[in-house]
Amino acid sequence: MTDIDWDELRATAVEAMQRAYAPYSRYKVGAAALVTDGRTVSGCNVENASYGVGLCAECGLVGDLHMTGGGQLVAFVCVNGDGETIMPCGRCRQLLYEHAIPGMLLETVSGIRTIDEVLPDAFGPRDLEGR
Ligand code: THU
Repeated sequence: MTDIDWDELRATAVEAMQRAYAPYSRYKVGAAALVTDGRTVSGCNVENASYGVGLCAECGLVGDLHMTGGGQLVAFVCVNGDGETIMPCGRCRQLLYEHAIPGMLLETVSGIRTIDEVLPDAFGPRDLEGR
């Protein structure tokens, strides 16, 4: 956990950001995460003329996670068009929580945080166990 290369992860997020399709907001986002097996997954935002159905970068990242072998997210970062670290939106914190190891780390605007710090008392898969 201590050997996460945040610079490399951010560089992957910046690469992903360069593929963003954001003609409406003109706000490009790229996301990257380290997976339990050591691989890296990434995604970019993909907007739509029907604004509400646009996809956040995290949506692409989670698709990449499952399409390339599954596993859980260990460390995550997302960046804007200037390569600055940004916070994942509320919906995407929930999306990340579903696929995160307990205590997944995020690089945030206020330093390294855990998923539990950015989404306290989360509703998650365990709440549906036994249903
Ligand atoms: N966006 C993301 O891709 N991820 C986030 O966590 C925050 C917002 C995108 C959605 C939209 O395409 C653009 O940023 C402006 O909101």
